[in-house]
Amino acid sequence: MATKNNLRRIITAALPYANGEIHLGHIASTYLPADIFARFSRQRGYFVVFSCGTDDYGVPIQIKAEQEGVHPREYASFWRSRDKEDFEKLGISFDIFLGTDIEENIKLAQEFFITLREKGYIYEKNVLQYYCPKENRFLPDRYVVGTCPYCGAQNQYGDICEVCGHVLNVGDLLNPKCAICGTEAKLKESNHFVFALSKFSDPLKKWLIENERLQQEVKNYVLKWIEEGLRDWDITRDITWGVPVPGREGKQSLYGWFENHLGYISITLKYLKEKLDIEDGVSFWNSSEVIHFIGKDIVYHHYLFLPAERIAEGRFKLPDQIPTRGYLLLQNRRLSKSRGWYISLREFLNNFPPDYLRYYLTTITPYSQADINFDWAQFAEKINNELISIIGNLFVRVTKFLEDRYACEVPEPGVLKQEDFQVAQELQELIKKYSELLEKNEFSEALKVCVSFAHKVNQFFQYNEPWKNKELAGKTLYLSVNYLRSLIILLYPFIPFSSEKMWNLLDLKEDLAFNIFHSVNNFEAIKPGHRIKKSEIIFEKIPKEKIDELTKNLA
Ligand code: MF3
Ligand code: ZN
Repeated sequence: MATKNNLRRIITAALPYANGEIHLGHIASTYLPADIFARFSRQRGYFVVFSCGTDDYGVPIQIKAEQEGVHPREYASFWRSRDKEDFEKLGISFDIFLGTDIEENIKLAQEFFITLREKGYIYEKNVLQYYCPKENRFLPDRYVVGTCPYCGAQNQYGDICEVCGHVLNVGDLLNPKCAICGTEAKLKESNHFVFALSKFSDPLKKWLIENERLQQEVKNYVLKWIEEGLRDWDITRDITWGVPVPGREGKQSLYGWFENHLGYISITLKYLKEKLDIEDGVSFWNSSEVIHFIGKDIVYHHYLFLPAERIAEGRFKLPDQIPTRGYLLLQNRRLSKSRGWYISLREFLNNFPPDYLRYYLTTITPYSQADINFDWAQFAEKINNELISIIGNLFVRVTKFLEDRYACEVPEPGVLKQEDFQVAQELQELIKKYSELLEKNEFSEALKVCVSFAHKVNQFFQYNEPWKNKELAGKTLYLSVNYLRSLIILLYPFIPFSSEKMWNLLDLKEDLAFNIFHSVNNFEAIKPGHRIKKSEIIFEKIPKEKIDELTKNLA
């Protein structure tokens, strides 16, 4: 297979808000799938730029920073470095992790704003806003609290009632108060900018219909939204923590969702320029496949705002794919941070190796909008009875045999028989299936193929009984160790830490991470006479007591 060094993939994962811990929900729907795809693409020889960063601006972050008495920039950068660390521990292989609060993003967002305005896609409008007369400032979204006019719930924010779910407009709240100082909020007129999203119904429809790689399930409901009619969209806010609106610096900022996804572009281009000396980031962008991984709660923004802005501005190609996955439930209940019903990534990794989480989450996360359920007992069962019993044991079985009977040296195979070719053929078919599934984002299915592969190799070993049958032993070990090599390549996108470890124990010198996939179907890559290292246990079983304890702690 030819290498694909001329092919490029820009892969991004939704930018996490810089105001709280990364939890398993984010990982399952977005970061892990993106990482699996990035790793697989690198193995296939693609030139990959995998970028991400924090979503730094907006009201919730400004409020939290104020409450803690720090500048929002400082507050955001705390979470930026913390998220970066957490992601690294899980092996999320970002090439670059920055945030939307970088000069390049401010500049790009302002350019977008100015271009769109010149082209007539942004217009002005007077709108009523809540206002705090004591502090003399406007109170957008979460800066105002009051009573829901629909259900009477107290302490609701200005944009939505979290009790009954009604979306609220300015002026709806009863008894509105400034969320910071408690003063009664007034209504005051303010001049804002609006993006004419409604003008983009046709090009958006065309893009959705013509692009076959967009997820069908999502496409269907986005097309329905378009049919129902798109509403123009207020893209400015009366706050200071954000990208300053050109001409209104110090008074208004661009709404977060106007500029945060531009971070995909600005962060990627900054990386190209500073790390790779590529000045013409626009051409690079436009000659790459562009893939944005997200969770289903932000479909509206990624399937409508994002492409509409890019179409309107004109320089940057639209995404080829926006893989979208569902919410994570914990023991069948919706996550709730306030009730402590969630598991943070950091806490999880204090208890278990990163590959356990990666393995388990992959098995339960389909390529669809369906919700995903995390279950402690099932976690232990998948790790103990699948990852360890099937994959780990096969590795130890083969390497231990080589160590004990052949002093770690791979034997000569002797003459292969018809049935050996038969097994090899079946394994080749599994590899083919695996790579098709990975390209289609069907990661849970692809991982099942790895398990079948391991299972088949184990059967082959068992069938030939090399411990009894000296004559067949050479060929059995020679082939088995080569099959292991292929299996490690297949497993790498899912469990990179253990795969690297196994690869090193086989003492293989090629780089497992880059441009290796073309040799996955070579079952003679390891030659007779090659020496492996002493066998080692790769995985430790999870004791039942530990699971009982964690389940109890959660409740
Ligand atoms: N911060 C947003 C969220 O967590 C996601 C932003 S993705 C973006 O919902 F790239 F579009 F910014
Ligand atoms: Zn309500």
